[in-house]
Amino acid sequence: MSQEPERPATALRRLVNGYQVTQAIHVAATLGIADLLAGGPRGSDDLASATGAHPDALYRLLRALASIGVVREEADRRFALTDLGDCLRSDAPESLSGWAAFVGDSYHWQAWGALLHSVQTGENAFRHVHGIDPWTLRARHPERSAVFDRAMTSLSRQVVASVLAAYDFGRFGVVVDVAGGNGAFLAAILAHHPAIRGVLFDQPHVVSGSGPILEAAGVTDRCEVVAGSFFDDVPGGGDAYILKAILHDWEDEECVRILHTCRRAMADGAALLVVEQELGPANENPASKFSDLNMLASPGGRERTPEEYAVLFAAAGFRFVGVTGSAVGTAVFEGAAA
Ligand SMILES: C[S@@+](CC[C@H](N)C(=O)[O-])C[C@H]1O[C@@H](n2cnc3c(N)ncnc32)[C@H](O)[C@@H]1O
Repeated sequence: MSQEPERPATALRRLVNGYQVTQAIHVAATLGIADLLAGGPRGSDDLASATGAHPDALYRLLRALASIGVVREEADRRFALTDLGDCLRSDAPESLSGWAAFVGDSYHWQAWGALLHSVQTGENAFRHVHGIDPWTLRARHPERSAVFDRAMTSLSRQVVASVLAAYDFGRFGVVVDVAGGNGAFLAAILAHHPAIRGVLFDQPHVVSGSGPILEAAGVTDRCEVVAGSFFDDVPGGGDAYILKAILHDWEDEECVRILHTCRRAMADGAALLVVEQELGPANENPASKFSDLNMLASPGGRERTPEEYAVLFAAAGFRFVGVTGSAVGTAVFEGAAA
């Protein structure tokens, strides 16, 4: 049966109501619904008692999620996981449970609620709403930091296989992941290239959560963990310095400061590997264009073109060597000492 094309007004209303989908998935992720359904279908009352949720309200959440394919409603208010919902399991290979938990978290959500302020003034919404930057807020709230770190692990796991297929890290002896979060990206590189040694560097309250991830990847004995700030110093001795999803968090001035710190630590032959999303052509690539808006609203940075990265590199003593794209739109922007 052929389907009527969606009318423009209907399509727009669906897009406008996107916030409802975000929160509904966020709540399901926070309650751990996908993990509870991993063993097979369960009734909504049963799920309510397992999660401490209100039975009728949880049923309404689940039937809404079933209408968009995140779960499937069966007879007698029983629900099953779909392929989509399976990606919300915390142990799914490309789990998005951490990302879903973060995106609807109230403090992040409130920053997006001030997007109009950002667009009218060019100012960062997060600082406007909370009076501080997200890194300071999360350092003061370890539970929020843990949710954010899990979100970063989610995103790293979504892209790392494609980046490994596109870019050969095997030519390096020691790889330093500057601000590598809980270590998911570096752990995958080390697991893929058994001869490489790694250094995971990030803030103290972040690297403290790296143990289980390095251990699960079987790379603990090849990975040194170092705490600090990239505005002060980063570890020396690396053949490659990865900055993944870091420069997009910051405006140009801070990026140059971070790159200067790296340059100081790097030997002349070491490689700078900035791993970020490619913006893509006009009218395409909503993931990167909305990630850019997310940078405006939340940390206060931006996604950049290769030319814009080249300008940052030059300002910090690097020359732009080239860019290696990957199937998922995450690219390696490579620099070397100028
Ligand atoms: C967007 S996350 C990216 C994490 C990781 N590279 C990844 O792709 O999953 C940014 C990281 O920068 C770290 N960060 C923020 N300020 C920092 C600082 N002053 N020194 C070191 N790391 C910092 C955060 O702790 C966080 O892990």
